Amino acid sequence: GNERTLAIVKPDGVSGMYTSSVKKIILESGFAIQRELTVHLDEDSVRRFYAEHSTKSFFPSLVKYMTSGPVLIMVLEKTNAIADWRALIGPTDASKAKVTHPDSIRAMCGQDLERNCVHGSDSLDSAAREISFFFY
Ligand code: CMP
Repeated sequence: GNERTLAIVKPDGVSGMYTSSVKKIILESGFAIQRELTVHLDEDSVRRFYAEHSTKSFFPSLVKYMTSGPVLIMVLEKTNAIADWRALIGPTDASKAKVTHPDSIRAMCGQDLERNCVHGSDSLDSAAREISFFFY
């Protein structure tokens, strides 16, 4: 049935002027953009949003990256939205995506394992948590 997922265009995507290209792909792929919000996240919000990664060695760098500029946060809705958005963005490591998934969004606008341009919820549970984190 219909499903909702959380998409984020990260600071590198926004500063690289990719938001309109990403939105065009979203709409052409049959998603409805139900909510959207542009915000410059503070450290506390990023730490809470990515709490599951708090013990990882890359966490301080992730917090620095995600607070480096504004992000565009969207709730996307369609049938199978979670898996379909993940397929569209491609693998986490954008440098690998450029080789293995050249048509993916991360191949288009990402750089590497960290600066990968976009986020997508990875499960029904995380979609519910992430949507309610930013939208009431
Ligand atoms: P995302 O899948 O949106 O959520 C976790 C983020 O952490 C991920 O995108 C990358 O931006 C970053 N990330 C994941 N794994 C690594 C890693 N091994 N090294 C650096 N950054 C990472």
